Amino acid sequence: MDENDQQAILEGHGGIGVLCVTDFAVGERVSMRTETGEELCGTVARVKHSLEFVYVRWDDDERQKKKVRKDRLTKVPFSHSRGGVVKEEEEEQQEKNGEAGIEEGRPSVCSNSVFSIMTGDIVMNRFEVTEPLGEGGTAVVWKGVDTETGKPVAIKRIVHKLSKMLYDRELDVLYTNASNPRVPSIIGEVKDDCVVVMEYVGQKSVKDYAMPGPTNRPKILGCDSYSVAIGMITALRSLHERGWAHRDVKPANFVVTDCPDAHKAANLMLVDFGLSKSFVRERKQGGDKEAWPNMVCNDEDSDKEWCIRDEAQRSGSFRGTTMYASRRAHDGMDVGRADDLIGVVYTFLDLVNGGLSWREYTRGHKKDKRKVKSLKDFSDPTNKWCPCEVLEGNPQFKEKLRGLVDYLESVFWEQDPDYDRVVKDLKEAASFADSSGERGAVKITWGGV
Ligand SMILES: Nc1ncnc2c1ncn2[C@@H]1O[C@H](COP(=O)(O)OP(=O)(O)OP(=O)(O)O)[C@@H](O)[C@H]1O
Ligand SMILES: [Mg+2]
Repeated sequence: MDENDQQAILEGHGGIGVLCVTDFAVGERVSMRTETGEELCGTVARVKHSLEFVYVRWDDDERQKKKVRKDRLTKVPFSHSRGGVVKEEEEEQQEKNGEAGIEEGRPSVCSNSVFSIMTGDIVMNRFEVTEPLGEGGTAVVWKGVDTETGKPVAIKRIVHKLSKMLYDRELDVLYTNASNPRVPSIIGEVKDDCVVVMEYVGQKSVKDYAMPGPTNRPKILGCDSYSVAIGMITALRSLHERGWAHRDVKPANFVVTDCPDAHKAANLMLVDFGLSKSFVRERKQGGDKEAWPNMVCNDEDSDKEWCIRDEAQRSGSFRGTTMYASRRAHDGMDVGRADDLIGVVYTFLDLVNGGLSWREYTRGHKKDKRKVKSLKDFSDPTNKWCPCEVLEGNPQFKEKLRGLVDYLESVFWEQDPDYDRVVKDLKEAASFADSSGERGAVKITWGGV
């Protein structure tokens, strides 16, 4: 989503724009009657508040966004138009291809909805919608206030074509992580509308430090990038300890709640669990581990009553976000905990380096996933994966990150990654970056909730 779109969404919904025509939000269902009397149904894919048109992706031609005058469009409830809700084409074009095998036979979109969130709405007779918060590839998130407690809440509505699957997974993770201090608490749900109401955890995400600018983005000091990275690892580790891999690690999915603590870890909350996957099965009381072939169970005397699948499954389809996905994800392999940590290493490099060398191939006309995967091969000496001058000429930094990625790529699905090693390597890499006298590297200005 570019800044203009964001502006549009911030200002939108009131119908009080310069042109005094109805305003639309990305993901809203609309219809239009053509000159020949045919009724078209589609989804708003792009909005610019100041203009008299929006871009719509018609259900019959999902590949194309068409420019349509706002006054020709009528908003329609979801139940009146057939499915096919499309995702916004975000800058970091991401693909949530889903797991058709698991979800077969289920409706792919939430049905029976006559519900469209706008500022001022009251959701579930309790939560007042106050402002748009964020928007990713699959959902629109609003800030609201719980009229019973006065506390701020986040209201997320999934609008992707696989919304039902992503939504069910999100709820599963939120409920099974109710005691996880790094995951927002769930407060309510409207199943038919794919809406979840959760604790509001902060205004800024790590993406605010990794924002692509029109010109060169500032490099973040190694020590501050390290704070972000260990904050991410702390949050992921507490999710992993509850048996889930996140599987879409990227800056926008870590919300900043506070300044770094005494251990220099940024206080980050994890969000967005539509692609998460459980890698364990609970062992029944006195259960027989033989009952689960292809599972590796903890020792009998372990306090974790878990069995872990010992075989990665190959789905064949890519899941995650191209920019931060591991090479295993590119290969369509089942991704797990080590791949989450590879996402952290890429985010660290992104911050410290002021961008990732494969960025230009993640979107637009140059989009080329194969090229991105090949540039992520850190052991290839012809790859300039660290293009900024000083870091490129800093063999210690490069060697440390190369070794770390090598290690993480060697960790199998069923193995516990060595978190302490990852933290140690990142700390050393950060100090190599800072000692190289990186010109223009900036400190992070931390924001509170
Ligand atoms: N509980 C929350 N508190 C505060 N902000 C939140 C919360 N949940 C989400 N957000 C904000 O909304 C943004 C989008 O949320 P989320 O990542 O869940 O949506 P998404 O559409 O699934 O994203 P993606 O593009 O990764 O698919 C986040 O990047 C974050 O800035
Ligand atoms: Mg997200």
